[in-house]
Amino acid sequence: MEQYVIRGGNPLVGEVDIGGAKNAALAILAASVMTDETVRIDNLPDVRDINVLIQAMEEIGVSVQRTDRHTVIINAAGIQDLLVDNEYIKKIRASYYLLGALLGKYKRAEVALPGGCNIGSRPIDQHIKGFRALGANVRIAHGRVIAEAEKLTGRHIYMDVVTVGATINVMMAAALAEGRTIIENAAKEPHVVDLANFLNSMGANIKGAGTDVIRIRGVEKLHKTEYSVIPDQIEAGTFMFAAAATKGDVTVRNVIPKHLESITAKLIELGCEVRESDDEVRVVASGPLTHTHVKTLAYPGFPTDMQPQITTTLALSEGTSIVTESIFENRFKYVDELAKMGANIKVEGNTAIIDGISRYTGARISAPDLRAGAALVIAGLAAEGITVVDDIYYVERGYEDFDVKLRGLGAMIEKASTEKEIQKFQLKTG
Ligand code: EPZ
Repeated sequence: MEQYVIRGGNPLVGEVDIGGAKNAALAILAASVMTDETVRIDNLPDVRDINVLIQAMEEIGVSVQRTDRHTVIINAAGIQDLLVDNEYIKKIRASYYLLGALLGKYKRAEVALPGGCNIGSRPIDQHIKGFRALGANVRIAHGRVIAEAEKLTGRHIYMDVVTVGATINVMMAAALAEGRTIIENAAKEPHVVDLANFLNSMGANIKGAGTDVIRIRGVEKLHKTEYSVIPDQIEAGTFMFAAAATKGDVTVRNVIPKHLESITAKLIELGCEVRESDDEVRVVASGPLTHTHVKTLAYPGFPTDMQPQITTTLALSEGTSIVTESIFENRFKYVDELAKMGANIKVEGNTAIIDGISRYTGARISAPDLRAGAALVIAGLAAEGITVVDDIYYVERGYEDFDVKLRGLGAMIEKASTEKEIQKFQLKTG
């Protein structure tokens, strides 16, 4: 098992290029099976979740050609099987996007129940409600979701909670339904908009993505397209908070500053200087960090996927901060790991009360999920001494070359798989 071994204490300085958005790319990849014509997708991040989804698509007969690390050419004309189930697909959340995509195109799909990070109970009732409203028969059997329909018919659907996954799934199925679908209380995240733009580039008729009412006029078929995935808001935000926690000066490049507004606003409250230009944001943290309060919310609120990173940074800020997690009920598991590094954080229900300390001390810790894993790396970078982060498998689900990009900013971080390698790193950097 690989680990990150980190010698902390260096401010991160320099420029880093942000890749394509994992969560947009997962939806777009799944949606690419909705046409028999050839689709080209650029700016695809080379991360584990994406590669698992590609493999599952290949297993049902989709041809996926990787022309370079970040580009794929997809043709789904040869799909033979509408059953998606393997050992790996069960571990990712986005497997369920193949439900909406295949149901829309073939009016039938059978997909293993989705896994993903263990951050709460993560029901799929809104997905099922949406498919049923469109006329599908949906049941769960043998660990799979089975959806089938004679035909899909557009409907007025009200989502009981704001959900990215269900909004995306219903949007895909409705794109090939008969008539008009209206999704009310829709999620507004950038990846919802990116998927709508992708589907529209294939001939779909979707309006209102990015607002809470999405209107979809079903079309008979979708056609070929070439599309580039938007930059990853969460990867960018992670580097921005890494700059703050290490008192650094980092420019994140190839981003859409508008998508980073809630993150930028919090960094300014913490006392950082944030300068935006066309497709870059620079974060300078020269003075002491100050406390603030934050509550995670659906977009354009502060993202739940940035909660561990801001908590980790607030633990190094003067005064008392409060972080409230309002999207997932079990997303503070990493706090026990931060405590090993000296953090003073008390979790009560969905709230963390943080008393700032002046410095973390390096420790052996383990990543409980993707974003928490990234946050623990940030803690290691800001800590005195050596930190070893176990279970980096999680981090690699969503960050491409995380260690390489951090080294480019002056961080002392390497991957190691044995105690000997850890010792070697200690000697080399000591
Ligand atoms: C997506 O998960 C992301 N995953 C998550 O990113 C992200 O944290 C989350 O959206 C919120 O932004 C992918 O895009 C693959 P939701 P998703 O449906 O779609 C409740 C990461 O680290 N809900 O928006 O699963 C649910 O329990 C991952 O990259 C229902 O009640 O999230 C939650 O409280 C982690 N019923 C809230 O809605 C449903 O049918 C939001 O969930 C669906 C969801």
